[in-house]
Amino acid sequence: MENELKKLKEEAHKLLGKISDKGDAEEFRVRFLGRKGRFTQVMRSLGDVARENRPRLGQLANQVKKEIEEGFEKQISKLLQPSTSQMDRPDLSLPGRIPPRGALHPVTQIMNETCEIFESLGFSVAEGPDVEQDYYNFEALNIPPHHPARDMHDTFYISESTLLRTHTSPMQARVMEASEPPIRIIAPGKVYRNDSDITHTPMFHQVEGLLVDKGISFADLKGVLTIFIQKMFEKDLALRFRPSFFPFTEPSAEVDIACVMCGGAGCRVCKQTGWLEILGAGMVDPAVFAQVGYDPKEYSGFAFGLGIERIAMLKYGIDDIRLYYENDQRFLSQFI
Ligand code: PHE
Repeated sequence: MENELKKLKEEAHKLLGKISDKGDAEEFRVRFLGRKGRFTQVMRSLGDVARENRPRLGQLANQVKKEIEEGFEKQISKLLQPSTSQMDRPDLSLPGRIPPRGALHPVTQIMNETCEIFESLGFSVAEGPDVEQDYYNFEALNIPPHHPARDMHDTFYISESTLLRTHTSPMQARVMEASEPPIRIIAPGKVYRNDSDITHTPMFHQVEGLLVDKGISFADLKGVLTIFIQKMFEKDLALRFRPSFFPFTEPSAEVDIACVMCGGAGCRVCKQTGWLEILGAGMVDPAVFAQVGYDPKEYSGFAFGLGIERIAMLKYGIDDIRLYYENDQRFLSQFI
């Protein structure tokens, strides 16, 4: 019987290594460990051995059984672990992972839309520096040193003569200085003012407009702005021109549109007035023409400056401008 056990052990060991799938494993189990298996058979012959040898052989048999069982378990757990090559293989049955979709920032979207509308009216885009000379930001625009209008701008100065532009109007002077009429440009870009609350951020975006030619009147300004507002808000909104003052335009106006929320009836957004202020504009002041060497008797023109964040706030019904610059995904993902 001792020999039988030894043979059984060797045989089992040999076959253990060959188990490579579920079928092999089951076959092995039945053959060696099952009720009618090889081990049971050997155990039956225990009755035939001499009495004094029985305890020793019984113990040996149990040990062999334990070894075979342990080897079997080990082999099975090896089978359950995927081999490296299986892990590397992509599982084509898995559902696809959809990458998150990005989008342009709402301010960029409105900026692009604004430029497209004016381009469709024949304006071309001119861009200028954010770090500007005091001369273009103020002096060329009829705002000499000590002019009270400088107070309104909360300027970030870099040196005595350079600053972060407080508006896009310096592009009026730059473009006129560099070219002859007719001029029909828009100048989009960033502007900076030391101001921060729910309707102001230290950096915001403006689009400047300038049209200079012979015989240009306030009616042309009104026509261009009316078309722009109608296209931007996709509504036939009324415009209102209120007399105002800018040193570089004469006459000057602040332009309101009928409230986009209530249509003019009066609500919280328009503070019950029915109107929303949207941009500044006017006819180019002869003093500015003089600075760039244009003859004000020959040419006239209009200029306007509109705030992109302001338009985006009105269009999307947002009451805190700072939301645009907090990069909160929950806010931004609404504009995809
Ligand atoms: N630059 C002015 C501002 O930022 C707006 C403006 C532009 C007014 C052009 C008139 C003409 O307030």
